[in-house]
Amino acid sequence: MSQKPTILVTGGAGYIGSHAVLALKRVGYEVIVLDNLVYGHRDLVENVLQVELVVGDTNDRSLLDRLFATRKIEAVMHFAAYAYVGESVTDPGKYYRNNVLGTLTLLEAMVAASVKKFVFSSTCATYGVPQTTPIDETHPQQPINPYGASKLMVERILTDFDVAHDLKSVYFRYFNAAGADPSGLIGEDHNPETHLIPLVLLTALGQRSSVSILGTDYPTPDGTCIRDYIHVSDLATAHILGMEYLLKGGSTEVFNLGNGNGFSVQEVIETARQITGETILAIASPRRLGDPPSLVGSSEKARRILHWVPEYPRLADILTHAWQWHQKRHALLNEQQYAISRLG
Ligand SMILES: NC(=O)c1ccc[n+]([C@@H]2O[C@H](COP(=O)([O-])OP(=O)(O)OC[C@H]3O[C@@H](n4cnc5c(N)ncnc54)[C@H](O)[C@@H]3O)[C@@H](O)[C@H]2O)c1
Repeated sequence: MSQKPTILVTGGAGYIGSHAVLALKRVGYEVIVLDNLVYGHRDLVENVLQVELVVGDTNDRSLLDRLFATRKIEAVMHFAAYAYVGESVTDPGKYYRNNVLGTLTLLEAMVAASVKKFVFSSTCATYGVPQTTPIDETHPQQPINPYGASKLMVERILTDFDVAHDLKSVYFRYFNAAGADPSGLIGEDHNPETHLIPLVLLTALGQRSSVSILGTDYPTPDGTCIRDYIHVSDLATAHILGMEYLLKGGSTEVFNLGNGNGFSVQEVIETARQITGETILAIASPRRLGDPPSLVGSSEKARRILHWVPEYPRLADILTHAWQWHQKRHALLNEQQYAISRLG
């Protein structure tokens, strides 16, 4: 039986990247993770996923040259980026340096090593304020923050690298990634955490006292914002399909990855209450600047061309899997704290 190719996964010690690593492993690919561990978790890669970890930065060209020279890498999945929208507004240089320059350095190293298949994590934040809904890939792109702008710049670089260097890429514009691997093995562990679903579940666990509802007077059925939540395992599957499409000779393409169904903040909290059995204190707060009332994507193109079929489109499944993971993580943290207190 022929061996499956080796895939480099940047940012594989983070949330979505680690789910892609698990999916790649499950179907037999060799995986190398490159992560600078600014937000990633060493233990997750080395002990839980048990794949090779190279600790390093996408801005380190000599490290990349050594990596591509010594390993036969067929394709790169590029998750490594900073993704805190608010921080990107106050410190845009940090975002352009990491997300744009880091990616450019990686792409140049790939071209030098003749590695020409690239799967990129873009974002629905490249669209800005929706003009029509559901948003498809032809929707105008007018990002309203440096984070979204940094991802749009990379999209443009990818178009130019295809023309100049025949580097083929699939770039995915994700909506809100959520959930955890259904096995409970891995899940979301951001620090700081800014995403609604983990914040709601951390409140259910008592790690936070309440969750804020940022705006209750939007023109939506219950007055709270509507977002498109896509299960992280479905994202991971799409990445494998996108990469295999490129390995079979596919041309550069962009695909939205979303659920196609929006859920309001209130619906997320209500469903979480049912699943966890906890009260979950929610506090109505003022709107956040720049939040559109509704952001829902159409992923018809990914379904049609990549034959991607999301397995977990139900909000209840997304929340159940996330809840399993957060409970497990909470128990582990408690055990560790208990052990430390016994030592002290
Ligand atoms: N989480 C979402 O809902 C969402 C939505 C749209 C797009 N995205 C994009 O998906 C990707 C993954 O997001 P995530 O939520 O898993 O984030 P994450 O922070 O959990 O993972 C990113 C990983 O990249 C690493 N990293 C960052 N910069 C690096 C660099 N220069 N070199 C090496 N490693 C680096 C971090 O240490 C981290 O482990 C990002 O590109 C993000 O912009 C995420």
